[in-house]
Amino acid sequence: MDLILLGAPGAGKGTQGALLTKTLGAPKIATGDMLRDAVRQGTPLGLQAKAVMDAGQLVSDDIVLGLVRERLSRPDAAAGAIFDGYPRNVAQAASLDALLAELGRRIDAVVYLDVHDDAIVERMSGRRTDPETGTVYHVVHNPAPDEIAARCVQRADDAEATVRERLEVYRRSTAPLVEHYRQAGVPVHTLDGGRPIDEVQADLRRALGR
Ligand code: AP5
Repeated sequence: MDLILLGAPGAGKGTQGALLTKTLGAPKIATGDMLRDAVRQGTPLGLQAKAVMDAGQLVSDDIVLGLVRERLSRPDAAAGAIFDGYPRNVAQAASLDALLAELGRRIDAVVYLDVHDDAIVERMSGRRTDPETGTVYHVVHNPAPDEIAARCVQRADDAEATVRERLEVYRRSTAPLVEHYRQAGVPVHTLDGGRPIDEVQADLRRALGR
């Protein structure tokens, strides 16, 4: 199954996608995670992407398409993938359709996680990531165990001003994808992403019939 998780920054795409990987037997392809890896490793692509990400803007479509193409070619993605944070605009959606068509596949479903802006800002300010495993926690809603909490870090783009810019970019470029996929006849499941993590996951599995 090829599934897209859509939603504003902090809506819970990464959290829900990570929980869903075992159920679907498909990997999560998260362009944000791949870009942050490149930044950490200091690759030329990472150096190029860093300033754009820190400003809350979108990295160029070509760079992101290259990352997704490479990731989709790996054996674990042969039977499907969970796309988290990709596509981000209509051009990326068209590229993804073409990429999947080359593999004889298409998007089977879109899950839209609907979350109110106030909750988004609170989630981002409390988000912490374990740099060793990449696991994402929240200081209140999903705290890391004590031995891990001490080494957790905050994302550079989770500063409030950057979050507001990311929300603006989301509204302008990404939110229209919900209608885009509806018009294209792809099943779009809208879930209340403002509920506790396990309840959203249960809704998600129900929606997908898993
Ligand atoms: P990216 O990493 O994709 O960030 P994003 O889309 O802004 O989404 P987030 O990762 O911030 O949030 P999420 O929805 O995954 O929420 P999470 O599960 O972590 O992109 C970062 C940047 O990279 C972009 O700004 C851009 O520059 C670049 N980029 C990436 N992809 C690109 C692309 N395709 N094209 C161009 N540029 C691209 O949850 C957030 C917090 O809330 C966590 O602390 C979590 O524990 C907590 N939480 C989650 N669910 C719940 C819940 N139900 N209740 C309470 N707390 C919850």
